Amino acid sequence: MKSRTLPCSVSYGNRAPRITDSRSWASGFYKRTLRERQNILIQAFPEVFGRNSLETKSLDMNSLSVYTTPDTSFCRSPIELLEEKLTKLSTPDFPIRGLSEEIADNMVENCVGTIGLPVGLALNFVINDKPIVIPMAIEEPSVIAAASGAAKTIKKFTAVAPEKNMITSQIAVTNIPESKMDDAITNIQTHKHSIISLANTFVPNMIKRGGGVRNITTRRIRRKRNPHPRHVELCQENFTEWLIVHVQIDVCDAMGANCANAVAEGIAPKIEEITGGKVGLRIVSNFSTERIVKASFRIPVSSLGYKTHTGRSVALGIVQAYEMAQIDPYRATTHNKGIMNGIDAVALATGQDWRAIEAGAHAWAACRNEIERYEPLTTYWIEKEERIEENGQIDDAGLYLCGEINVPICVGTAGGVLATNPVYKYNLGLMGNPNSSELAMAMACVGLAQNFAALRALTTEGIQQGHMKLHAKNIVIAAGCPSSAITTVTDKMVDTGRISFAAAKDLIETTAKKGMEVIKNGEKNFGEITASLECSPSVLVTLWRTEINNKV
Ligand code: MEV
Repeated sequence: MKSRTLPCSVSYGNRAPRITDSRSWASGFYKRTLRERQNILIQAFPEVFGRNSLETKSLDMNSLSVYTTPDTSFCRSPIELLEEKLTKLSTPDFPIRGLSEEIADNMVENCVGTIGLPVGLALNFVINDKPIVIPMAIEEPSVIAAASGAAKTIKKFTAVAPEKNMITSQIAVTNIPESKMDDAITNIQTHKHSIISLANTFVPNMIKRGGGVRNITTRRIRRKRNPHPRHVELCQENFTEWLIVHVQIDVCDAMGANCANAVAEGIAPKIEEITGGKVGLRIVSNFSTERIVKASFRIPVSSLGYKTHTGRSVALGIVQAYEMAQIDPYRATTHNKGIMNGIDAVALATGQDWRAIEAGAHAWAACRNEIERYEPLTTYWIEKEERIEENGQIDDAGLYLCGEINVPICVGTAGGVLATNPVYKYNLGLMGNPNSSELAMAMACVGLAQNFAALRALTTEGIQQGHMKLHAKNIVIAAGCPSSAITTVTDKMVDTGRISFAAAKDLIETTAKKGMEVIKNGEKNFGEITASLECSPSVLVTLWRTEINNKV
């Protein structure tokens, strides 16, 4: 297969929506509690969340802790105060949350429930000079932190995506004898305009939105014997080639798969009539080569210093890791898995068909070049700026690490499932309501950042160290720690160096017991209790409830 080049491209233009600069509100975001972060978003994105989603009326951006001192009225015990606080904490009205069962039941067959995933924000991204906040839905720890950390180092990404949001549907025609194949193709070309007119009648909404079928092309694919050794041939017809008709459709900001399928099925009888063949498969192709997105960065090697490692050794490590992936498919697969960690997470958060994106990305990795070997989706190289070197020494100041990703990303920001699940609206709102090209560009940048972060970590300290704390957090959660005490207990566990389920259980219990002592001693001030214990109200209440139950 020939190397492909990008079709004409588009970057964020004047009509780009307002994108809130996270630098004005996201400082120390990761250190906040979940509730605090939600409050910050409500303040920072009033057009997305409105101002009444949470109790934020007198919220002070500089003191966003939810652990403000409550009214310690003498009529209420500390336990009552804790419960009251807990009730408020446990009834959040923040709209980025799990899908309701009613909606879920209408989405799939035999629905029995829903499953949740954390949604986090990738910060520090500046794409084509515009800051953007990027929501990611993923169960794997470290991924969001890695993307944000990489974006902080990289500072600026450049991205381009095709101007038109094209999608291709395929109609496979069989039973055309070899001698009639040329005629069949000529007939399709002769009737091209009438086929396009017919095709457009199946997508009236797309026409109203300014899209529609743009082109019809053909391919011939030589038929091969079924390679299975036990296969018995049933086909009686003498046909040696498939005629594949490709229908190219501009789907505006939609994902487009339904549209492509409707067109393919709609015009199938006409294709049969024109070619004299028999239509078989008629379906969208998820190999979206018309939607190749490119994202890149160029950063001074001197700015790449990381922990105890020099910028030069970090750059060298990243480039060598890429070179290894280039020739070893075992490594390329993991390399690309890391990229898809980022791309899929944004796809999930924004309601995209991530399976289609995955399939397209791996097909692209496998056959975009003539060498036909599975390759990494990213490329890294070092550039040297023309400069006079002193004493013949290579000066890092003149060196740049360049990184680039090319990947097909087929996404939509209008219609389809986006209208079904309200969470997508909020997540796209956080991104400044991008159009499909802008969303694809953001996803490509996250994939590139993710890969940069993985290669930087793998060629320096390894990924386990950073993973350990996040791993500890997961253990603490699995051990039953109430959500608002997770950070405290995790920190304690990491400090002790004993990271295990049993250690987490012990720490949760010790922390809670300590809290009970204070309560029994008649402490009334909620703020003091939580502060002196470094413990959350929910830990205290959980233990108190357990104790009461035991007595009963
Ligand atoms: C883990 O989810 C992803 C990595 O394995 C990617 C890579 O090795 O490049 C860290």
